[in-house]
Amino acid sequence: MTSPHPRFDIPPDLNVEESYQLPFNMHDGKLHVLIGATGSVASIKIPFIINKLFEIYGDRVDIQVVFTKNSEHFVNPGKLLQSVGGQYATPGAAGPAHHPAIHSCPSGEDFSLPDMKINIWRDNDEWRLFRNRNSPVLHIELRKWADILLIAPLSANTLAKVANGLCDNLLTSVIRAWNPQFKILVAPAMNTYMYSNPVTKRHLDVIRDQMPWIQIINPIEKVLVCGDIGMGGMAEWANIVDRLVQELGGDDDSTPTESSAPLSSVESFNPN
Ligand SMILES: Cc1cc2nc3c(=O)[nH]c(=O)nc-3n(C[C@H](O)[C@H](O)[C@H](O)COP(=O)(O)O)c2cc1C
Repeated sequence: MTSPHPRFDIPPDLNVEESYQLPFNMHDGKLHVLIGATGSVASIKIPFIINKLFEIYGDRVDIQVVFTKNSEHFVNPGKLLQSVGGQYATPGAAGPAHHPAIHSCPSGEDFSLPDMKINIWRDNDEWRLFRNRNSPVLHIELRKWADILLIAPLSANTLAKVANGLCDNLLTSVIRAWNPQFKILVAPAMNTYMYSNPVTKRHLDVIRDQMPWIQIINPIEKVLVCGDIGMGGMAEWANIVDRLVQELGGDDDSTPTESSAPLSSVESFNPN
């Protein structure tokens, strides 16, 4: 199949029809949580966050995940779909993968939470859906859909892009188009050497001072995957869920999750 759009070379397996409808509903009355995964080892915590949100909210929440290309080195979208249930959001999106370890997740797999589906989006989907000027623009549709965006983990690279307004992939395009009346929660995670670099402080300061809709969930001191001990580890996933639930409300039992550490590592700020 040749691309109907002369500027883009759409691989033949990506059979997105002209009539393709985005697989999410803007007006279903549910809580819409968009999660961003970036290229940090802490991305492996994302399935825990998703499962906990489903445990708390059941079918009152809809969750979609946007992967950066490098996040896929740490969390395998196919396995995430197997563990929490869900679908690649566009036909054929399971391949080609960015990383050889990634494999497709054929429909009909046994998922642990069969009624709770998530959609997974990758950079290629943005272009896969763009056929003509009537096509949905994915980062704009996701921005309209989301009640909140959680980026956990937030890599040093994506932090730098956010602080400087860069938008060269799906996730940063969503952030750049974000409606400031809605919250973005970010949980930075990086090696201590990266975290203690003055550039990191500068970028975090820009966010604190100029982007009051973005709240920083402070990293913590821990033994990092590389063996170094120090500041820069992502906040405990349970604390991140607690922070998200505080923002979203609507939970029947607002007591913190059992494994929560004190919320002292959570930083909110005042728009003023
Ligand atoms: C094994 C390994 C672990 C990494 N862990 C982190 C990390 O925890 N935090 C971080 O900011 N960058 C980390 N990086 C570097 C990022 O993956 C890299 O800067 C990447 O460009 C981030 O891309 P993204 O922000 O588009 O996801 C790691 C790289 C490797 C190879």
